[in-house]
Amino acid sequence: MASEIIEKLKWRYACKKFNPSKKLTEGQIQILKDAFNLTATSYGLQPLKMLVISNPEIKEQLVPLSMDQPQVKDASHVLVLCRENGISPDYIKSHFNRVEDIRNTPREILDPFQEYLLDSFAGKEAEEVSLWMSKQAYLALGNLLTVCALEGIDACPMEGFEPAKYDTLLGLKEMGLTSVLVLPVGYRADDDLFSELKKVRRGVAEVVIEMN
Ligand SMILES: Cc1cc2nc3c(=O)[nH]c(=O)nc-3n(C[C@H](O)[C@H](O)[C@H](O)COP(=O)(O)O)c2cc1C
Repeated sequence: MASEIIEKLKWRYACKKFNPSKKLTEGQIQILKDAFNLTATSYGLQPLKMLVISNPEIKEQLVPLSMDQPQVKDASHVLVLCRENGISPDYIKSHFNRVEDIRNTPREILDPFQEYLLDSFAGKEAEEVSLWMSKQAYLALGNLLTVCALEGIDACPMEGFEPAKYDTLLGLKEMGLTSVLVLPVGYRADDDLFSELKKVRRGVAEVVIEMN
C-alpha cells in the first residue's frame, strides 16, 4: 500500500495541458468537495470556501487573469480556494455551537476555549488573520493534490493568477471571500510533454534530517 501511494504521487504532476473534452464525473467532484471539507485546519475553524467552476464562459474569462495559462480554460473544472475576509466573534461562536451540536460537548468544557480564541483573535491585526487564513488554504491545496493523485485526477496547483481580478469577476467580495489559490482539475492531454518529464526534487537524503 505504501509503495502504491508513492507510485501515485510520482504519477501526479502540475498539468500544463488538459484534455478539454474529458470531464470529471459528479462523483469525482463530490470526492474533491468532501476532501476539501475534511482538510485539517488550525483550531478547526475552517476559514475557507471553495468555488467549483464548470461554466465554459467563466473558465474562458479566467485565462487573462491567470497569466494566460490555458489550464483554467481546458480543465474540466476550476477549483478556487478562498479565505474568509475576516474572523468575527460570531464566526468563532458559531464554530463552538457546531461542536456542541455535533458532539454534545458540555459548555463548561467549550467556554474557556471559546473565550481564549475570542481574546486571541481580538488582539490580532487583520493582516495577521488574513495570512493565517491563507495558510489554511495551502493546507487544503496539499490535501486536494494528494486526493487527486490517489483518484487518478490530474491537477495544476496555481498561484499564477491575479486574486483581485478573480474576486471581481467571480463576485467573491459580495460573498465575504478572497481568492488564494486556483486548482484546475480534469484529465491530462495525451500530448502534454510535461507528463513525461522526470521529477526534479532535492532528494530524501538532502531534505530529511534524522535525529536518532
Ligand atoms: C503553491 C503552488 C503554486 C503553483 N503555481 C503554478 C502556476 O501558477 N502555474 C503552473 O504551471 N504551475 C504552478 N505550480 C506547479 C509547480 O511549479 C510544480 O508543482 C513544481 O514545479 C513541482 O512539479 P510537479 O508538481 O510537476 O511534481 C505551483 C505549485 C504550487 C505548490
